[in-house]
Amino acid sequence: MISIIGAGRVGSAIAFLVGQSGLDDLVIVNRSKNKALGEALDVNNTLPEKSLISVMGTDDFSKIKNSDVVIITVSGGVIKEDRAELLPFNVPIVSEICKNLAKYADEAKVIVVTNPIDVLAYQILEQTKFPRERVIGMGSSLDSSRFHYLLAKELGVKQGQIDGLVIGEHGSTMVPLFSNAKSQGQKINISEKKTDEITSELKNYWKYLVAYKEASVFGAAKNTFDIAKSIVEGKDLLASASVYLDGEYGFSGFSMGVPVVFSKNGVKEILQLPLDDKETKLLKISAKKISDDINTLSTYYQI
Ligand code: 2OP
Repeated sequence: MISIIGAGRVGSAIAFLVGQSGLDDLVIVNRSKNKALGEALDVNNTLPEKSLISVMGTDDFSKIKNSDVVIITVSGGVIKEDRAELLPFNVPIVSEICKNLAKYADEAKVIVVTNPIDVLAYQILEQTKFPRERVIGMGSSLDSSRFHYLLAKELGVKQGQIDGLVIGEHGSTMVPLFSNAKSQGQKINISEKKTDEITSELKNYWKYLVAYKEASVFGAAKNTFDIAKSIVEGKDLLASASVYLDGEYGFSGFSMGVPVVFSKNGVKEILQLPLDDKETKLLKISAKKISDDINTLSTYYQI
């Protein structure tokens, strides 16, 4: 069973993907019960023929009991520049959710979509004491999708012909790995000026998107769904995601986007890719940004 906490635009889009694919039983939890009921009524009409899954909407947290996967999408506030601006709104909300996770679903794999993703993934880990394999931030997976789009546009190929990952913060210090990126299986070769331009477009992608359509929805939903699907079906998936680090890439004690293989139990493996000097330097800056934000967490909640 999958539970989605928050039936806003992203939560509803994930619910749609789960429903129409028939992936698993689904519980949509929302503070406004009517909104949860409405989304469930709608998603129920998307189930595949002969599907045996059920979809329900509720404001009752106890209904997440025994979830295999819990996806957190709730959010307050609006981002102007930095996703960390949402900390005062989202830390207390996530803190309440943690209490319910401990009470009803302490075996669940948790996927965090609420911003700032890396910091909140850390908060959940700290508050619930869940093992790191089961607390996953979906952020750099979305950034990697955007990297594919921008590289494909630059190189005149299709997105599906690009391989490449973005690691680090889901924020303005993210690190696209140009040194590992490939187009049609071949290493890419573009000028430093171009890589700087693409990096800037990548970091600001959400701003263009939000300026045009108010909210970033489908990309976040699809990347979250892929991780949930890998866990539910127990099929390996390589994606970049925020995971608590214990020495990987030379960092420990916080969550940050790194290449991960997902499977049945959540994180199966963290991949150590070789980085070039520039990427190594930028990743240190990214790690510091996340750690600095984590240091402010105690202002907003007490365990
Ligand atoms: C995004 O990158 C705003 O984090 C959200 O689309």
